[in-house]
Amino acid sequence: MRFIKIVLVIVVFFVLYFAYHFSSNAPVTTSEIFRDDEAAQAQRSVDQFIKELDADKTSYVARGAHSKAHACVKAFFEINEDIQAELQHGIFRQPGVTFKSWIRFSNGKGGMKGNYDTNKDAHGMAVKLFNIYANGLEKNAADSETQEFLMHDSPVFFVANVNDYNQFLESEDKILYFVEGINPFKWHLRELIHALNTLKPPPVSPLKTQYFSNTAYKLGPHNIKFSARSCSLQEEQSSTENSDPDFLQKEMVKKLSSGDGCFDFMVQLQDPTKYMPIEDPSIEWRESDSPFISLAKIKIPSQVFNSPEQREFCENLSFSPWNSLDVHRPIGELNRIRKEVYQASSKYRHKKNKAEVPTNLDW
Ligand code: HEM
Repeated sequence: MRFIKIVLVIVVFFVLYFAYHFSSNAPVTTSEIFRDDEAAQAQRSVDQFIKELDADKTSYVARGAHSKAHACVKAFFEINEDIQAELQHGIFRQPGVTFKSWIRFSNGKGGMKGNYDTNKDAHGMAVKLFNIYANGLEKNAADSETQEFLMHDSPVFFVANVNDYNQFLESEDKILYFVEGINPFKWHLRELIHALNTLKPPPVSPLKTQYFSNTAYKLGPHNIKFSARSCSLQEEQSSTENSDPDFLQKEMVKKLSSGDGCFDFMVQLQDPTKYMPIEDPSIEWRESDSPFISLAKIKIPSQVFNSPEQREFCENLSFSPWNSLDVHRPIGELNRIRKEVYQASSKYRHKKNKAEVPTNLDW
């Protein structure tokens, strides 16, 4: 009997091991792979997000994801002086140039109900560079007015592709999505582990962590992922009592009333000889395969940011990875469907709130 139990445990272990490891088969390519059903997949996502926005039943319609902001601050984005020639594309074309920006820090959860900073969650950092053509950068037909970088504090996204993402969004029971049916080879074990890892305990401060793009982007001829890492990442004791559901905002108010914030903005280049696919953002591009290279410093000067007017201004901003120069455009199927979803979410909430997207971004 004991022998049978041991054999059973070993069999279960190997089945789960293989089910976990063989659940991603995204090929490594340097160009994007397009799906035939992409328009339909984008519409599935749009429908789910609009349904969620309606389900929140609050008088104010917040963003479909990353609804709660901790801070929306003014920041300088300073391109490094020593940036290597092969990486000088788009906004990184002129070493030493400084761009002005808005940065919105947020919890990942959609909806405002029960959106407590003390909960485990993903934490977002969305950067909007404006007046980007002021220093002689040439604007081409496919380029946006702003250059934006959207990140959260986990190096990987929890699903591998748009079909899985839509199935997850549509499933009534979010845990069951990962382990549905009796065939473990159809489970999403790797995604389950990523989902659990994405739900992180809150950082001591939104200024003291590292944020990642998860998905791939262009940097001229290169495929890259990007990241913003606090210039001083060492653990610090939060000065605000963190049983407070809004402690991340209070922490930032305190920090920026007397000091500055700083992030290193870095990119990682795809090396196609390594397992660095662009069509599966649940695969981490390992730093041992391609280390991050610093391209800019994000400097957040000491400021008061939480006036009701500034909060309203920022809530009405629309961030999107597709607000981008063509040389920095998002790539991969999950990125491509984000174009329609962000537009639809923004349009819907602005309409419901009878609000306009601010056009004058300068400060
Ligand atoms: C893949 C990695 C992803 C990252 C790093 C990311 C990050 C973010 C961040 C930081 C925001 C907040 C923007 C702000 O402050 O206004 C945001 C908003 C949003 N995200 Fe994502 N996101 C990701 C994937 C996705 C995907 C795959 C979808 C859906 C297809 C999605 C849907 C949304 C929506 C609907 C919003 C709200 C847009 C609005 O109403 O303005 N995200 N995301």
